[in-house]
Amino acid sequence: MVFAGIVAGGCGSRMTCSEIPKQFIEIGGEAIIIRTLKSFLAVGEIDMVYIGIKADWHDYMDKLLARSDIETSRVCIVDGGSDRNGTVMNIVGAITERFGENDDDIILTHDAVRPFVSDKIIRDNISAAAKFSACGTYLHAVDTIVRSDGGIVESVLDRSCLFQAQTPQSFGVKALRKCYSGLSDEKKALLTDTCSIFTACGKDIHIVEGDVLNFKITTNNDLILANAVAGVLSDK
Ligand code: CTP
Repeated sequence: MVFAGIVAGGCGSRMTCSEIPKQFIEIGGEAIIIRTLKSFLAVGEIDMVYIGIKADWHDYMDKLLARSDIETSRVCIVDGGSDRNGTVMNIVGAITERFGENDDDIILTHDAVRPFVSDKIIRDNISAAAKFSACGTYLHAVDTIVRSDGGIVESVLDRSCLFQAQTPQSFGVKALRKCYSGLSDEKKALLTDTCSIFTACGKDIHIVEGDVLNFKITTNNDLILANAVAGVLSDK
């Protein structure tokens, strides 16, 4: 089976303009999390979409779903974890509890706050994860990137081999569980994305090409951009 795991268990502390977690803010008249969910439900190969959300936001999410035109038979809400990978692993736990552990099952893990993920990126992740067992979405760096302590520039990095990580990051469900359970708590605490679970175990991550519109809504300025993009897309 093919699963999507949308991580929405954060509180959006860098989005200072909002009193609610950023994944619930409306852009272009629709909550960000609903847009993201629709992007995955639109791909027929996805059998189930799991969403990890803090327990005290479940009711809010249920109301958003009830108000939307989404048919919820392929949607399942579970509790988020104390960090991002904790939310991913809660989703993986819920999947294996319900469907068992099957060799061919794959999961596309995705940030709730990347609502403009394209159909192509989702489909490319499904193909790559089925073939390689671990892949991530990456965007070739377009800006010059330097190493610095924030005061002076120490060195200019070679842009030709630098990429920005996006999501989805996609894996064989069995391999993900195995790699994560083999890591110490200290190692787990250092990981900032899910592909790092595999790199920490010495495994290869295959690259799926990202897209500049698949940006993460992190700060107040990102919200301005997201509203502009949502407006342009609705005019198309
Ligand atoms: N996330 C999660 N569970 C957590 C923390 C984060 O599912 N315990 C999710 C967020 O909801 C978001 C994604 O991980 O969809 C990317 O994280 P980030 O942009 O850092 O979100 P927040 O943690 O909400 O933001 P901030 O760091 O500004 O508080």
